[in-house]
Amino acid sequence: MERGKFITFEGIEGVGKSTNISHLVAAIEAAGHEVLVTREPGGTPMAERIRDLVASHGDEAMPDVAELLLVFAARALHVNNVIRPALEAGTWVVCDRFTDSSRAYQGGGRGLPADDIDLLADWVHGDVTPDLTILLDAPVEIGMQRAGKRSDPDRFESEQSEFFERARETYLRLAAGDPGRFVVVDATQPVDVVKAAVDAVAEVLLAE
Ligand code: TMP
Repeated sequence: MERGKFITFEGIEGVGKSTNISHLVAAIEAAGHEVLVTREPGGTPMAERIRDLVASHGDEAMPDVAELLLVFAARALHVNNVIRPALEAGTWVVCDRFTDSSRAYQGGGRGLPADDIDLLADWVHGDVTPDLTILLDAPVEIGMQRAGKRSDPDRFESEQSEFFERARETYLRLAAGDPGRFVVVDATQPVDVVKAAVDAVAEVLLAE
């Protein structure tokens, strides 16, 4: 049984991940592959409960290290209970965010050491890493405008633009350091142009 491919989408809020995930998934399905679409934090019942804990404003302080460990606890559930079994059964997995989000948000945004995040990544999912990561990139002010002002922003949406600037810079640095895995798409282009870029990525991926 050939292992399925593992594809992740990354980017700050408002860059259009959902639309482009649907677009890529349609192309993979059209080529005859089974695809599982999932997200982080979340993707299993317990991991979704952790997502609620991490994203909501609780009634006590959330130390940065607790936030990091919670997203990795959710990831341990997701990888072991859903992602690895799917890949081993030959199913392709498309995930809305994965460990690069921890590097961007908890590393870049909160300032936690990159080495600690790499250690957790290796421990939690050393054998399960994305084959391809599509980074949808846009300046923070455009992303924030598109994400719109929610009436009840969650803990992340409540952050200042500097937090997202650091997250975006981290994403771009990660992509520059690993061009074999990352494809950076300029998400400020018109929707159809972004979709065409995702199509081009799908074509290469499906031909492999
Ligand atoms: P979203 O998937 O709807 O964008 O929301 C998930 C939020 O969680 C988003 O603000 C980024 C944040 N996040 C982290 O801070 N670290 C992580 O490892 C992941 C997966 C998400």
